[in-house]
Amino acid sequence: AAVMATAQPLRALAAGKGPVVPAKAKPLPLNDVRLRPSDFATAVEVNHAYLLRLSPDRLLHNFMIFAGLPAKGEIYGGWESDTIAGHTLGHYLTALVLTWQQTGDEECRRRADYIVSELARAQAKRGTGYVGALQRKRKDGTVVDGEEIFGEVMKGDIRSGGFDLNGSWSPLYTVHKLFAGLLDVNGAWGNPQALQVVTGLGAYFEKVFAALDDAQMQTLLGCEYGGLNESYAELYARTKDARWLVVAERIYDRKVLDPLAAQEDKLANFHANTQVPKLIGLGRLYELTGKEKDATAARFFWQTVTQHHSYVIGGNADREYFSSPDSIADHITEQTCEHCNTYNMLKLTRQLYSWKPDGALFDYYERAHLNHVMAAQNPKTGGFTYMTPLMTGSTRGFSTTDDDAFWCCVGSGMESHAKHGESIFWEGEGTLLVNLYIPADAQWKARGAALKLESLYPFEPESRLTLSKLAKPGRFTIALRVPAWAAGKAVVSVNDSAVTPVLSGGYALVERQWKAGDVVSIALPLELRVEATPGDPNTVAFLRGPMVLAADLGAAESEWNSADPAMVGDDLLAGFKPVEVKKALYAVDGVSRPGALAFAPFYSQYERRSAVYFKRFTEASWKTEEAAFLADQAKARDIAARSVDVMHLGEMQPERDHNLTSDISYPVSYRGRNGRDARSGGFFEFDMKVRAGALILQATYWGGERSRTFDILVDGTKVATQVLDNDRAGKFFDVEYPLAEALTKGKTSVKVRFVPKERSSAGPVFGVRVFS
Ligand code: AHR
Ligand code: ZN
Repeated sequence: AAVMATAQPLRALAAGKGPVVPAKAKPLPLNDVRLRPSDFATAVEVNHAYLLRLSPDRLLHNFMIFAGLPAKGEIYGGWESDTIAGHTLGHYLTALVLTWQQTGDEECRRRADYIVSELARAQAKRGTGYVGALQRKRKDGTVVDGEEIFGEVMKGDIRSGGFDLNGSWSPLYTVHKLFAGLLDVNGAWGNPQALQVVTGLGAYFEKVFAALDDAQMQTLLGCEYGGLNESYAELYARTKDARWLVVAERIYDRKVLDPLAAQEDKLANFHANTQVPKLIGLGRLYELTGKEKDATAARFFWQTVTQHHSYVIGGNADREYFSSPDSIADHITEQTCEHCNTYNMLKLTRQLYSWKPDGALFDYYERAHLNHVMAAQNPKTGGFTYMTPLMTGSTRGFSTTDDDAFWCCVGSGMESHAKHGESIFWEGEGTLLVNLYIPADAQWKARGAALKLESLYPFEPESRLTLSKLAKPGRFTIALRVPAWAAGKAVVSVNDSAVTPVLSGGYALVERQWKAGDVVSIALPLELRVEATPGDPNTVAFLRGPMVLAADLGAAESEWNSADPAMVGDDLLAGFKPVEVKKALYAVDGVSRPGALAFAPFYSQYERRSAVYFKRFTEASWKTEEAAFLADQAKARDIAARSVDVMHLGEMQPERDHNLTSDISYPVSYRGRNGRDARSGGFFEFDMKVRAGALILQATYWGGERSRTFDILVDGTKVATQVLDNDRAGKFFDVEYPLAEALTKGKTSVKVRFVPKERSSAGPVFGVRVFS
C-alpha cells in the first residue's frame, strides 16, 4: 500500500547529505519537450493553425510603406490600423519561434526568417536605424508615420498622457514587442540578421533617450513602455556591449519602481499591465548585474500582486487597474483579469523561480496557467479573450475574426498558447524537477534521458513519469512538486512501490540510483476546498486541487437576469455531491440559494455563463440579510438593464473606446476610483451611445468638492451647469440630467462635453452613464 508521505516526520538531514531542492534551476528547452494529448496540446494545435492563417505580409504592411517600400499585403484592421499598429508583429515573431520550438514545424521558422529579412530591408531603406509600423495622429487629425514623434521627443516636446505619447498609443510598448520578437528569433536559431535589426533599433532609441535629461526621461516613462528595459538588458547579454546596459538601467520609472524597491504597496490605481513588464526587466537586470535592489522590487511586486491583488483564477486587475490591496471582493466585475497581465506574471514567476526554486511559485503558476490562460482561448475557434470576467452570470468575449481582432491579448494569447510545454520540466544541480503535471515527452540531455509524463491530472490524482531511456544511469534526485493544498497528502511511488520522499520547499524529493525503465509516480488528493478572497472571508470560491470550479448558469446565448446565487451554512462542501468525479462535475444543493447549482471546471466554460464567487452567510445571517442582499442585487440588475452606455473616465481603454478628446485635462484617481478633470480653458469630450426614447445622463462626483462649476453639453447643447459644493461629504454621489428627446432623436451616439467655468475645474467626473 502507498505511504502517506507526510505521515512521516520530515527527515532531519545532516549537512550535505540527502536530496535538497537545487539553489537554481532552468527549464528544459522547449525544443526538447513535446506535448502528449491533452487540453494543452489541443490549445497549441488550434493556435498553430491560427498563426498559419495570419499573413506575414499583412502584418508587415505599415513597416514597408512607412519605409517607402511597396506593401505586399493589405493592412489588417482593429488595433493594427490604430496608432498602436505593429504591436502584433512582435508577438507574432515570438509566437512563431515558440511554435517551432514546441512542435518543430519548419514553416514557422521560415516565416520568422522572412519577416526579419523584410524588416531588415525596411530598416535599410529608412537609414536611421528605426523600423516600425507605429502611426501618430497629428492635432489636425491626419495620421502619419509614428517615427515623427521621436524627433519631437528629442527636442523635449514630450506630451505624455499615460498611454498617449504625442498622439501615438503607447509607442514604446510596441517597440518593446518588436525588440522581443527579434531577440527571440536570434536566440532560437541564431539568425544574425535579427540581431542586426534589433541592434540598429537599439542604437536609434539610445540616441532618442540620450537627448533627454533625467526629468524629461521620467516624463517619457510616464507613458507605458512595456518591458523595453528588459530588451536593452537582453541586448547587453547577447552582445556584451555595456552601452546597452546603460540604456536598460535608465529606462526606470521611479514613480512606480522606487516604492516597490522600498517594499511598499502603492499599486492602487496604477494600470496593471503597464507595470508587470517593468519588473521582468528589473529581474533581467538583476541577473546581469547582481544588484539586489532590482531583485527585491521584483520579488516584492510578485508577492504583493499574487497575495493581495489577485483573483482566485490567478489573474489581476479590474478594468485593467490595480485597486487597494485585499479589495478583490469589491471588484468582481465583468472587466476582471486581462490576459496580458497573467501572461506577464507567469514570465515573472519563471524568472523568480530560476533564481531560487520554490514550489510555492509554481503553485501560483499552475493556478493562473490552468484557470486563467486556459480559459482565455476558445479551443473551438482559436479566439482569444481580453478579459476573463468573474462577475456572476458573465460570459467571455472571444475574438471572432482573423482580420480585425488585434487587441493586446490576442498578441499575448498567440504566445501563451504556443508554449504549454515550457514549464513542465526543470533542471538544476543534477536534479530533475517536475513542476506541472501536463502530459509530455521530453529529452533530458544532461542524463541522455527520454522522459514520458503521463497524467489525467487535474481530473485524476495520479501522474507517472517514466525514464524510458537513461543513457547515463546513476544516483540523482527527481523532485516532484507537491502543491500547498496537498501538503502531507501526496503519495509517491517508484515502480509502483510506495516510497517516503524527503519533503522540502514544496517538493517530494526522491534520490536514488535510477535506471532506464524506472517509473516514479505521484498522486495528489483532489479534494474540494473553499477559498475566501483576500480581505473578505465572506466572499468565497470553490476549488478542487488546482482547478477552480464554477456554477454553470447556462449557455452564453441565454439570458441571465436572476439574483446572484449565495451560499448558506457552516459546511458548504457538505452540499457538493459528485456527478462525474473524473470530469470534476458536482451537483450542489442544500447550501446554495435560491436553489440547486451544477458545478464544473471554470476554465472550460468557454461559451457558458459562470458563477465563480459567492457571498457566504450563516443560517442566522441569511435570515436577517437575505432581503437586503436581494434588494441590492435587484437594484444593480435594474440599472444594468436600463443602461445604454457606461463610461469610466480616466481609464485608458474606455476613453479610447469612447473616442475621448481633451485639452488641459488630466486623469485623476481618488479614493480608489479613476476619473478625469479639466482646468479652466480646457475641456473633455467623448461619445456616448443613445437610443430612442427618454434618456437620462448620469454623472458621478466626489461629494466633498468645493466651488467647482462647469457646463455639460450634449452635441453642443448645454444640458446643465453643475455646481459642486460639499454636496455629500465623504461619499461619491450621482447626479441625473434628463435629456430632451430632441437631443437624441434618430441618433445612435452623442458627444458629451464637460467644460469648466473660468477659474474652476470640470469635476472631477468619475463616471458617466446613459440609461432609460
Ligand atoms: O496599451 C497597450 C495595452 O493595451 C496594455 O498593456 C493593455 O493593458 C491595454 O489595454
Ligand atoms: Zn491585453
